[in-house]
Amino acid sequence: TTWLGGIDIGGTKCAAVLGKDTGDGIDIAAKSVFPTPGSPQAALTALGDALERLLREQRAADLRAIGISCGGPLDSAAGLVLSPPNLPGWDRIDVVAPFKERFGIPVGLQNDANACALAEWKWGAGRGTRNMIFLTFGTGMGAGLILDGRLYTGTNDMAGEVGHMRLEPDGPEGYGKRGSFEGFCSGGGIAQLAGSMALDWLRSGRATRLCSGEAEAAGITAREVGEAAREGDELALDVMRTAGRQLGRGLAVLVDILNPERIVIGSIYARQRALLEPEMLEQLRREALALPLGVCRVVPSGLGEQVGDAASLSVARHALGLD
Ligand code: BGC
Ligand code: NA
Repeated sequence: TTWLGGIDIGGTKCAAVLGKDTGDGIDIAAKSVFPTPGSPQAALTALGDALERLLREQRAADLRAIGISCGGPLDSAAGLVLSPPNLPGWDRIDVVAPFKERFGIPVGLQNDANACALAEWKWGAGRGTRNMIFLTFGTGMGAGLILDGRLYTGTNDMAGEVGHMRLEPDGPEGYGKRGSFEGFCSGGGIAQLAGSMALDWLRSGRATRLCSGEAEAAGITAREVGEAAREGDELALDVMRTAGRQLGRGLAVLVDILNPERIVIGSIYARQRALLEPEMLEQLRREALALPLGVCRVVPSGLGEQVGDAASLSVARHALGLD
């Protein structure tokens, strides 16, 4: 077994994790999660302290490497986080050096979606493939690309920024762009979609359990949409069908360009698959060429709620040159 450390830097929460690579799986031994401190320096120090505490508590003597997972844009080779929208003030912050100095071992940095792709490829639903795509479908929409048996990051780490693709001239906003893939397929996007569809719905005299009046429409959350849809609310079902259709449209573009053998989707898709899958598949079949689609399967994340922890740990493995 090899001890690996993982650091996850998110907009609201951050985490330090300690895991054991057992050779054919990952065992998450311990984890510490806390609200992301306001300043980058405070956050990095607190994360280092947390990791050190976990190592002590688990009596893990020889930590081999540390992996850091963070939303883009970032420069993984230089170890820099470059002003991601969810981390105000993290402008060209060297997140790798503090851990290298403190722990004296290899430290890697990857975009969060790339990190999840590595984890699903190694330990989850992408096992055994040579070409797979991981899609986050969570707070944001990002992709990690495993192509020809290795992580593909592009010229300057921007490969897989698929949330930016525009699918419709108008629609919910993601990435500061209306009608984008992230606009339709993310937590915030589903909430916006529900808000605008609720207004049309109420104005035409139909009722929904999502809101009683127009003033409430803007406050609908993605979680509420999922719950109401499962209880059969017509508007909520319609919102999820719309998101599912746009997901299929985005996937069709990826399938035609990359000819993957598997597409693994996390978070909201993994939780709400039944509500999203029928429209997604219908749209995908309608829009992608049949031959590349013929070999491709779309599946939910195999690591489920553990994918985020496994993601940073797989970046640690990657830093050791293991993948
Ligand atoms: C960011 C990506 C990230 C994705 C998921 C997007 O908004 O641009 O870099 O992978 O969200 O967090
Ligand atoms: Na990516």
